[in-house]
Amino acid sequence: MKQVTFKEAMSVWNTPERVVLVTSIDPEGKPHVMTAGWKMRTSFKPPMIAIAVGKERYMHKCISESNEFVIAVPGANLAQEVLTCGSPQDKDTDRMEMCQFSKKPGNFIKAPLIQKCAASFECKLVGQMDTGDHTIFVGQVLASWIHEEPKQNLVLIGDESGYELLAEGGPYKIGVVRK
Ligand SMILES: Cc1cc2nc3c(=O)[nH]c(=O)nc-3n(C[C@H](O)[C@H](O)[C@H](O)COP(=O)(O)O)c2cc1C
Repeated sequence: MKQVTFKEAMSVWNTPERVVLVTSIDPEGKPHVMTAGWKMRTSFKPPMIAIAVGKERYMHKCISESNEFVIAVPGANLAQEVLTCGSPQDKDTDRMEMCQFSKKPGNFIKAPLIQKCAASFECKLVGQMDTGDHTIFVGQVLASWIHEEPKQNLVLIGDESGYELLAEGGPYKIGVVRK
C-alpha cells in the first residue's frame, strides 16, 4: 500500500456513482432543481434518505427554509439535464424550464415531482447535520413514485470500461451500464 492524498484515494472510489435530481421550493415558492451524487438511505422504518448539499448552493437555502425536498431518479433520457442541473446558472435562470421538466405536484409537499424521472420520493426534512462545507439533510419519505416505463439508471462515470457515455461537461461524465 502507499499513502496518497485524499483526492487521489477518492478518485479510486468515487465512480461509478448514481446521481439524482433534488427539487425543493425557494423562499418565493418557486421550484428549484439541482443534481446530487451524495445521497444515502438511512432507515427502513420509517423510510428515510439523506443528501449532502453544499452550503453555498441555492438549494441549501431552499431546503433550509422550506423543510422539504424531492429526490428524483433520472434515467438515461435525462443525461444532459443532469449536467444542466449540476452547473451553476444565472440566478434568474429557471432550470426546470431550461430542461423542459413537466412538474407534478407532490401529495404531501410543495416541492414538485419531475414526471420524466424513473422514481421519486417526497421527503419532509426531519434532521440535519453540519458536515464541513456541506450539510446533510435527512428526509423522511412521505410518498414514493415510479414511472410506468422502466428506465436505465444514470451514473457518474470515470474511465472504467463497461459504461456507455451519454453526456459530458466539465469534469463530469454521465452514462449508463453498457448492455
Ligand atoms: C454529477 C454531479 C453530482 C453533484 N453532486 C452534488 C452533491 O451531492 N451535492 C451538492 O451540493 N452539489 C452537487 N453537485 C453540484 C451542484 O449540482 C451544482 O453546484 C449546482 O449548480 C447547484 O445549484 P444551486 O446553487 O442553483 O442550487 C453535483 C453536480 C454534478 C454535475
